[in-house]
Amino acid sequence: MNEPTVHRWPIRCTVNGSVQHLLVEPRRTALDVLRDELGLTGAHAGCEHGVCGACTILFDGEPVRACLLFGVQLDGAAVTTVEGLAAADGTLHPLQESFSAHHGLQCGFCTPGMLLSALDLLAHNPIPTEAEVREGLGGNLCRCTGYQQLVDAVLDAARGGTYDCT
Ligand code: FES
Ligand code: FES
Repeated sequence: MNEPTVHRWPIRCTVNGSVQHLLVEPRRTALDVLRDELGLTGAHAGCEHGVCGACTILFDGEPVRACLLFGVQLDGAAVTTVEGLAAADGTLHPLQESFSAHHGLQCGFCTPGMLLSALDLLAHNPIPTEAEVREGLGGNLCRCTGYQQLVDAVLDAARGGTYDCT
């Protein structure tokens, strides 16, 4: 018996500043593509139905759930994953430094999504209140930290610099 033909669509996107040409099965999510095709496993597969935020990426500068996006929708887009935050020489992004300094992570499962949501927050609101930080991170679930360290990390990062999502 013949194997069914698997159709793949060509896409071109920019991921963490590198242009990528990929052949993508229409059924696969952007999260699948980033993790399985590009080896960018920082975006985590948690709930896989849009609830937990562990898969958050920046899509043309806006935070989105990669589990809710088809891989073919990456065509033409500029994507940032957590792997794109640190400098090329490995120097951590100021938000990553602040998360580390304030113990804003334990198991780390939520961390990539938290970082990208925090970056989006600070890009739009450079001096947030504590309540605004809590609201800004409200779409990302953390089962470890109790959130206070995360909030402290973002508030401290806000005091230390300016941020953008490009
Ligand atoms: S894995 Fe996408 S929101 Fe939970
Ligand atoms: S650090 Fe474990 S889920 Fe947030």
